[in-house]
Amino acid sequence: MITKPKGTYDVLPGETRRWVKLEEVIRKICALSNYEEIRTPIFEQAGTFHRDESDASDMVNKETYDFLDRGGREMTLRPEGTAGVVRAFVENKLYTNNGITKLYYLGPMFRYERQQKGRYRQFSQFGLEAFGSDSPLLDVDIITTAINLLEALGLKGIKVRINTLGDKESRDAYRKVLVDYFTKHKDELCEDCHIRLAKNPLRILDCKVDKDSKALLEAPKISDYLNESSKKHFEMVKKALDNLNISYTVDEKLVRGLDYYSNTVFEIEYTSTDFGAQNVICAGGRYNDLVSDLGGPKTSAVGLAFGMDRLLLALEHEGIEIVKPKRLHAYLITLGENAFLKGVSLVSELRKGGIMVDMDYNQKSLKAQFKEADKNNAKFTLILGDDELTKGLINLKNNDDDSKTTIELEQLYGYLLTHLPSKKCNVCKEGKE
Ligand code: HAM
Repeated sequence: MITKPKGTYDVLPGETRRWVKLEEVIRKICALSNYEEIRTPIFEQAGTFHRDESDASDMVNKETYDFLDRGGREMTLRPEGTAGVVRAFVENKLYTNNGITKLYYLGPMFRYERQQKGRYRQFSQFGLEAFGSDSPLLDVDIITTAINLLEALGLKGIKVRINTLGDKESRDAYRKVLVDYFTKHKDELCEDCHIRLAKNPLRILDCKVDKDSKALLEAPKISDYLNESSKKHFEMVKKALDNLNISYTVDEKLVRGLDYYSNTVFEIEYTSTDFGAQNVICAGGRYNDLVSDLGGPKTSAVGLAFGMDRLLLALEHEGIEIVKPKRLHAYLITLGENAFLKGVSLVSELRKGGIMVDMDYNQKSLKAQFKEADKNNAKFTLILGDDELTKGLINLKNNDDDSKTTIELEQLYGYLLTHLPSKKCNVCKEGKE
């Protein structure tokens, strides 16, 4: 038997409905905050992600799926959404509108990581990217949109951690101090941190191996090396979050796993103790140099990405059902050849009128067909035999109260319309469930 690749999983019927609902809620939240959808390729030229020799991130160095296509071109399956969106922003000259461009995306990403609960080799992200302003309040727009999504979904037990990496001047000053400091403490660092020391010393601060070492605990703090404008930027972010009553903690060790960030960075954790290690459901920050690094004009930008797999796991863990059990409006049972044939056109007509209905195509026994109606959780079972058909009648059973009735076939559609509930969805406040 051929099996799925390691680190991937099948989303089976039932589960897919949760994904579709989550996507629906996401789209609604994005529309409310004026983010428009962008769809970029799942693979890009390798240079989109492998931009810089000095990049010390695990994702870029160890985790990408790189391949040569049949034309010998170096390609990479996207490990994240930001770089591809920035590539598209530059290539399609979306910067020419001179205003703020707010984009969102949903879709699969690929990283060659060690599989565990919440960490996969193919996973899905929902991301936001906002271009064209250096205002700290745009950082807050991004964070607020994330919080709005979590509130709409009803997910509690959330912790927002924020930090600043400062602008280039501040980071350069801090980097110098860190290199001096960690060079003196090199013996206390793991091997990966030796590489980080040469490439991106800030990344040592979030090393999972060395996190409790004295060297890390006593390392110099970025807050002591921020210049005035970086300080002001961060203060404004905090003030606006306070005004919005969004609680957060400042975590000076938060530096993020990707190398393109400047100023604000943040992560949102789902804090339930028995959830597992992969509890960061959303992460992001400001990246003011990436657009120019990818050949565009200097453009400030900020963004985030949710791990949708993790978000759904967290909702499940919290016992939050975002979809109701599957329910058909009606299930048609037929008895006899003429009724079977009529049944096909009947369900077709009802479907055109918006009724969710199915029937048995195997002409199973009456008992087996009733079982199918149950399995599909039909509100009404419609029973059409050859005898009823000749009289222009149809039998109905309301499965909620077991009441039975016989009506004229011609009245069926109107009857169903008046007897089916029309409820607003409690998550996206729209439509009929
Ligand atoms: P990231 O922290 O690499 O950031 O990923 C964002 C989120 O994707 C993580 O917090 C996690 O929820 C989810 N995630 C990452 N890797 C996996 C995995 N192997 N399996 C399951 N879920 C995973 C970014 O990707 C940036 N592009 C975010 C961003 C957007 N920054 C600015 N704009």
